[in-house]
Amino acid sequence: MKTIQLPNSDLVVSRLCFGCWGITSDFHWGDRNRDQSVAALHAALDSGINFFDTAAIYGDGESEKLVGEVLASKRDQVVIASKVLPDKMKPDEILHCCDESLERLGTDYIDLYQTHWTGRDTSPADSWDSMLKLKQQGKVRHVGVCNAGVGDLGEFCPVEPPVTNQLPYSLLWRAIEYDILPFCGDNNIGILVYSPLMHGMLAGKYKSVADVPDGRARSRHFSSQRPHIRHGEAGCEGETFDALGAIADVCRRLERTMVDVALAWCLQQPGISCVIAGASSHEQVAQNVYSFDNPLPEDALSELNEATGPLKQALGPNPDMWEGAEKSRFR
Ligand SMILES: NC(=O)c1ccc[n+]([C@@H]2O[C@H](COP(=O)([O-])OP(=O)(O)OC[C@H]3O[C@@H](n4cnc5c(N)ncnc54)[C@H](OP(=O)(O)O)[C@@H]3O)[C@@H](O)[C@H]2O)c1
Repeated sequence: MKTIQLPNSDLVVSRLCFGCWGITSDFHWGDRNRDQSVAALHAALDSGINFFDTAAIYGDGESEKLVGEVLASKRDQVVIASKVLPDKMKPDEILHCCDESLERLGTDYIDLYQTHWTGRDTSPADSWDSMLKLKQQGKVRHVGVCNAGVGDLGEFCPVEPPVTNQLPYSLLWRAIEYDILPFCGDNNIGILVYSPLMHGMLAGKYKSVADVPDGRARSRHFSSQRPHIRHGEAGCEGETFDALGAIADVCRRLERTMVDVALAWCLQQPGISCVIAGASSHEQVAQNVYSFDNPLPEDALSELNEATGPLKQALGPNPDMWEGAEKSRFR
């Protein structure tokens, strides 16, 4: 497994990070099987993955508990990343949230503690001070952010740059290419990519818009007619499935699976430190590891960029997958 040292830190992590959002049940993933999740976590460890990303909000704390339980005997060999509750961004709430995560994880330090979304009713600078205080207290080793646009990063960086910015990025979601990706590159901030398989859409399992279950059809790809959607936009269903068709053509030519091609594409984009992929079984973990050892040829990368260009344009520069431009939580 290829590793990387995250900028301005002593964290050496596998470039494939195991995403722990979907290891426990919730409204998005539906019912999850605990034994299968445990097997997937063990498969990740066995294949050399040492980086695990969870959050206080995942499964209402259950994801952190399971991560803590499974990784307990390997604590000094793994890097655990977690996140503050998105709506608890006041300075004292952040301190409290961290204590609760430490308890659920059963550890006395978190390797990388991240803001999940920048709070809008608290000053970002005050929230960031609180994150840095946790570092001084030794409760967290390094601090990072998620979903931060160039405006937020411009406030954090002069105080202390985040080690990483966790961002949505995939063949079906390229909005960070407009300005956040270059900003992070210029300022030596690592990028951890999330939803690289677009919640399974890039596994090639949905043949039509109607096949995508409602819980997973909440992003700006889908029409506001779908339940649970809050972006209020028309969606880009035609462009999304045209892109999936064009990606499938490239996969056929390369004789590689869509999952493999989607993950390898992410990994090969400039400025990307790690790719965080979820997996609901040990078989999926094994397939995902394969793509990390098998890069795509240059001409395939260009073809994929071209195939997904019209969708990138239709979705525009708002990187928020779930909120429309007016209410975008990126700043
Ligand atoms: N910071 C943030 O705001 C934020 C937001 C979202 C995610 N994240 C992080 O990023 C991680 C990954 O993103 P994600 O969970 O949204 O989505 P993802 O990694 O794009 O998709 C995960 C899903 O893809 C399917 N899959 C994975 N490997 C597969 C394979 N080899 N073959 C077929 N299907 C496969 C599985 O679907 P099935 O369940 O159908 O098997 C799996 O549950 C999360 O777990 C979380 O740690 C962070």
